[in-house]
Amino acid sequence: MKSTLSLGCSDTKEYSAAMRGNGSILSDESPTKKSRPQLHNSAVKRTMLTQAFCLFSVFGCGILISLYRTIHSISSTDLMTKPTSPARRSTMTLDEYPSWRTERRPQNDIAVFYNLYVNASTDEELIHVSNIIDEQFGSLQPWHRPVFVHSIGQEYPIPNTTLLQHHEHATEMVTLRSLWEYCHEEQNINASVVYLHSKGSFHPSAMNDQLRKFNTLGALSDDCSNMPHTCNVCSSRFSPFPHPHPPGNMWQAKCSYVKHLNDPAQFERDMKIVKHTTIGNIPVHPSCLGAERFAAEHWIHSHPYVEPCDLYINKRYGWGYEQLEEFVGIQDFQLVVGPRYPRSDWRIGCPHSDLNHRLNEYKILYNMVPKDDWWGWEFWMEEV
Ligand SMILES: *[C@@H]1O[C@H](CO)[C@@H](O)[C@H](O)[C@H]1NC(C)=O
Ligand SMILES: *[C@@H]1O[C@H](CO)[C@@H](O)[C@H](O)[C@H]1NC(C)=O
Ligand SMILES: *[C@@H]1O[C@H](CO)[C@@H](O)[C@H](O)[C@H]1NC(C)=O
Repeated sequence: MKSTLSLGCSDTKEYSAAMRGNGSILSDESPTKKSRPQLHNSAVKRTMLTQAFCLFSVFGCGILISLYRTIHSISSTDLMTKPTSPARRSTMTLDEYPSWRTERRPQNDIAVFYNLYVNASTDEELIHVSNIIDEQFGSLQPWHRPVFVHSIGQEYPIPNTTLLQHHEHATEMVTLRSLWEYCHEEQNINASVVYLHSKGSFHPSAMNDQLRKFNTLGALSDDCSNMPHTCNVCSSRFSPFPHPHPPGNMWQAKCSYVKHLNDPAQFERDMKIVKHTTIGNIPVHPSCLGAERFAAEHWIHSHPYVEPCDLYINKRYGWGYEQLEEFVGIQDFQLVVGPRYPRSDWRIGCPHSDLNHRLNEYKILYNMVPKDDWWGWEFWMEEV
């Protein structure tokens, strides 16, 4: 499944003009592009104003944020009342949990759900698939068991795993659905789960190899296996743009969170409704919204209860494939509560990546307004 995304986060603060008349997404967007789209949302202006005030009055800032939210909730869409007190999120890093540095083995085993796609017509292609499996399974820790598999395309048994089902044609939603069902079982209420897929098994490329390695090492890392109580989803990167997602879509998550999510089997349909309700027929690339085949990548971060954790220390990588070549290995990981850096440091690259769209989507998907400790309050109130 070759992604058309090639945008990453860059150090420049330019936005890219995301929308084209034909609705195609900008690959190879020039980072020197100066055009900053008119953000029709006056919320941004108000936030900038708030920010300016904050420079003069650090202590008054909380009040201003409350005021901002009050104004905003009156003037914007018909969302229910939003919390009016400033966010109270913990930003502890793993360093502040020293006990986890010494005992790295989690209390319970962690089930792995593996989505295997095989469509090989030559021996060479089969060897490629087998290498991918060896590479990913080589990163499993002793506590990563059992391993449940859905295979798609050709049958390809993997020793010491439980094959849940083979499909001639399917999407990774079948595997996500099994994971979601597992999390609904009473005895797994305290469990964590890992989601992995054989990225690049059909489209071999250096970029796919790098993203797969980056994703697999993060999802199976000690840091994610010992997730602090301040997170419920842990991945190499948590990107708030263009929609909340773990780029590449491999992660570890707590079942207590996963069971709140909508049924993955229905999620593409759900995202279609989101698009239809918020944007209508205006052409926007589905990757900007987490719709269509990008819905799978949006699913795990789609609920307002999400408490994302992020591992990768390198600020030059945001999302997509760009700038990932600098990633070396687990030495580049250090867990923090996400998003890892402030909004002004992200390259957005798409329309409809703003606070209003997030709130509208939560309303449509989950009929909810995020609580006070939602990651997005602080993120969107910060610098612009
Ligand atoms: C395998 O790939 C070919 C194109 O190379 C495609 O026509 C076919 O539908 C694919 N099969 C499956 C099961 O995805
Ligand atoms: C399967 O698991 C058994 C027991 O843990 C182990 O001895 C064996 O080497 C494993 N087989 C493969 C192919 O990994
Ligand atoms: C889940 O954790 C709680 C609190 O530690 C414990 O009381 C309960 O027995 C656990 N449930 C299961 C099914 O492990």
